[in-house]
Amino acid sequence: MKIIRNSIELSKTLLVTSRSIGFIPTMGALHKGHLSLIETSIKECQITVVSIFVNPKQFSPNEDLDKYPRNEKNDIALLNSLAVDFLFIPSFDEIYSDDYTIKIQSESLFKVLEGNARPGHFDGVLAVVCRLLNIVQPNYLYLGKKDAQQLKIIQNMIEDFSLKIIVQGCQIIRDNDGLALSSRNRYLSIKERGLATSIYSALGMSHKYFLLGERKVGKLTNIFVDNLAPGLEKSIDYVSIVNVNDFEQCDDIIVDNSLLLVALFVGDTRLIDNVELKLK
Ligand code: PAJ
Repeated sequence: MKIIRNSIELSKTLLVTSRSIGFIPTMGALHKGHLSLIETSIKECQITVVSIFVNPKQFSPNEDLDKYPRNEKNDIALLNSLAVDFLFIPSFDEIYSDDYTIKIQSESLFKVLEGNARPGHFDGVLAVVCRLLNIVQPNYLYLGKKDAQQLKIIQNMIEDFSLKIIVQGCQIIRDNDGLALSSRNRYLSIKERGLATSIYSALGMSHKYFLLGERKVGKLTNIFVDNLAPGLEKSIDYVSIVNVNDFEQCDDIIVDNSLLLVALFVGDTRLIDNVELKLK
């Protein structure tokens, strides 16, 4: 694996190849969720590029930018054990020029859920992903369904700007107890970790009732809330069902292909998760 920190060097190296390039952007602190994306790219593409960049522009001032886990050595060792071709670790200045004037703004649709809870977050995500895509120019982009709204908004950017990139949305990878893997899980105390597992079981209950024929938004979201570990219901940020195709909120009766999305605090740690409500 070649580690490159300079964007021009990476662009030049990749431009000369006629082979298919798969790209996995990350903020590091890699776990099996990231690795599953990388492994899929390795299977499907001839060249796999991973980036690690903790993007300050997608953190609000009150968020965890300073304490966000950074462990470059571990990440490099993990990636070395896979057949990753290039690891791109840019500095802030490699990505952002001092005087940039053009901003990509997300549509109002994205001001809901994560966009509402984290103002400016998606603008920051689009800013960095747009730059990374232009540097790497991949054929395939691998993103996790764990961040379902992020996946959708990046897909929209790629379509709106006619970028010739195929987006592969990859399944959520979970721990044995069902908790969706996240770099932020390491903030949880042992007790909080125990409580957090109820997020998955509560989503599972809603999913079960959906399969049994329940279609009312209110019922399905209540089932989620009622099945959380006692106390967690007080720290819910949102519980929402949207149409997976356009992220429009379902108000009363859910549509065929829906997504139940949740965000809540366990202690000080904000966790997100989701489950698809669709018939196979
Ligand atoms: P990060 O949180 O590091 O996640 C990088 C990629 O890994 C994202 O596509 C995310 O959805 C995916 N991922 C994280 N946990 C996962 C899990 N448990 N199962 C499957 N996939 C998972 O998302 C970001 O970084 C940033 O916003 C980024 C896109 C890199 C832009 O800065």
